[in-house]
Amino acid sequence: MCGIIGVVGSSDTLATLLQGLQRLEYRGYDSAGVALVRPGQTWRARTAVGTESVAALRAECASAPSGFRSGIGHTRWATHGAPEAVNAHPLLDCSGNIAIIHNGIIENHAELQEQLEAKGHVFTSVTDSEVLAHLIEDSRIQGLELMEAVRASLLVVRGAFAIAAMDANEPDVIVAARRISPLVVGTAPGVTYLASDVPAILDRATAFYAVNDDEIVRLRPEGFRAIDLEGSPVRLHQLSIDWDLETAEKGGYDDFMTKEINEQPDALRSTLMDRRHKDGTITFDELRIGDDELRDVKRVVLVAAGTSHNAAQVAKYALERWARISVEVDISSEYRYRDPIVEIGTLVIGVSQSGETIDTIMATREAQYRGAHVIAVSNIVDSSLAREADAVIYTRAGLEVSVASTKAFVAQVAALELLALRLAQLRSTLSPSDIDALFLGLNAVGSQVATVLERRDRFEAVAHELKGARDFFFIGRHVGFPTALEGALKLKELSYLHAEGYPAGELKHGPLALIEPGVVVVAVATDPAMHEKILSNLAEVKARGATVVAVATDDDESIAAVADYVLRVPATEQMFTPMVDIVPLQIFAYAMARILGRNVDRPRNLAKTVTVE
Ligand code: AGP
Repeated sequence: MCGIIGVVGSSDTLATLLQGLQRLEYRGYDSAGVALVRPGQTWRARTAVGTESVAALRAECASAPSGFRSGIGHTRWATHGAPEAVNAHPLLDCSGNIAIIHNGIIENHAELQEQLEAKGHVFTSVTDSEVLAHLIEDSRIQGLELMEAVRASLLVVRGAFAIAAMDANEPDVIVAARRISPLVVGTAPGVTYLASDVPAILDRATAFYAVNDDEIVRLRPEGFRAIDLEGSPVRLHQLSIDWDLETAEKGGYDDFMTKEINEQPDALRSTLMDRRHKDGTITFDELRIGDDELRDVKRVVLVAAGTSHNAAQVAKYALERWARISVEVDISSEYRYRDPIVEIGTLVIGVSQSGETIDTIMATREAQYRGAHVIAVSNIVDSSLAREADAVIYTRAGLEVSVASTKAFVAQVAALELLALRLAQLRSTLSPSDIDALFLGLNAVGSQVATVLERRDRFEAVAHELKGARDFFFIGRHVGFPTALEGALKLKELSYLHAEGYPAGELKHGPLALIEPGVVVVAVATDPAMHEKILSNLAEVKARGATVVAVATDDDESIAAVADYVLRVPATEQMFTPMVDIVPLQIFAYAMARILGRNVDRPRNLAKTVTVE
């Protein structure tokens, strides 16, 4: 994810861009840059110093020439090309007059670059985005004005984009366009803005408009004009924004947790985007480990804490089933104290949303010290874990502010299952057609999660029904077990109520003694292969007076006989169920916390990142 901003007709262009970039830092900050344009001159500054990039850019701009009324700015979350200044946006065409910024992924960038280089274009970065600058340049050379040049360029581009382009030969104009990646336009008297989201321009623009997929907008100081990819005029939808800044940063939601629960479909799409070549090869651009090394992996050890540990436990099932590799999952804070065995071919994967959890960092350091290769699965680019690991896979879920992790969990499961498919590909433990089918199924999970999100009210109603309950057991089988663990963790950390996750088959080995009227048992019961056994577990607890809540598929007609409340979800492939089934449990926990008056974004005693052992 990246952040983009632009302004035309401003008397304080640079201040507008830098303030906006500061607010867009959550979208990515391994590098940042601005370009200012006036007749015949494009001035650019870029920095790439990790989390301080915007601050460094501000310092760099102290020497900027004055008198520019228009400009664009960008914060980068590297997907293609290292997070270095040479790859920072804005990117220029050969003439140096055209500057572009881009959020998204140009999937056919390689073939386009080849065609452009054959026509003499010279590329200066290792990014997918730079093709846009040269495509626009090509059309401008043919005499098209900027808006038509952008339209002609986007007709040949595949992938996701929110872009903005400027040309020193057409000053006081920015042309912006969107497909999948977010883009808004703002207006004020004599000034027009664009940004990835409203907060970036909230206190400058007075009216706001959403740009939809395949819409192109030309911004001038006096306003804007919009067309579709065919060139036909379109009207932008005006947004009714009455937010203050803090609300705006929550995207209009009451709190960050609600925002992030609702961002899960996008988080999944971003995590999985552009991860498969046309020939079916699954690829992780940022994964600096050779295929031979991956192919020779004999054993995998996943180390993680909290929610990330629950995601790692889901990954164990996928890695063992699809890649036929032996997998262990360790609690980070335990790993290094158990004198772990690391042999040749041991791959250790550190899973961490923040990439700063000291328990996980210390565990992966121990693993490296003992000779293991380490892959970091991190949601933050350039996090400590990512920097120290031999290789990294980014989950691209976007900034997660709420202490209770939600979208990072589903993104971690998706990224780890994708890695399992890659290993299955390398080890030929699954047929290409099976891998393709699973990859397509994985890519459909975002839509299934979106369907579940529409049922929010039903899940919240169950929390209201159970608001007096004080003891909860969450149970599941197979991948339903780590899903149950995650559901229990959400309820614990948000509502401060006692909740435990258990394998359903384990109840009779002790916990059943605790079951009595008033105790709530929440079962993850969506797996057809485990369904009969789960039903009998629920009959056991129901017979002892428990209140039963079941997460069950839409077509499950037998669950109602043993469940007092059913949280319905669409059926999906067994390994994908954690990403779908966790959503009603997130919402249930959230609703219970709100009923109890808890601070859902900042629960007591907890921190978003635990940097102490
Ligand atoms: C999850 O909701 C909690 N915030 C916590 O368990 C968290 O998952 C854990 O601290 C690990 O954090 P990390 O993923 O950043 O390493």
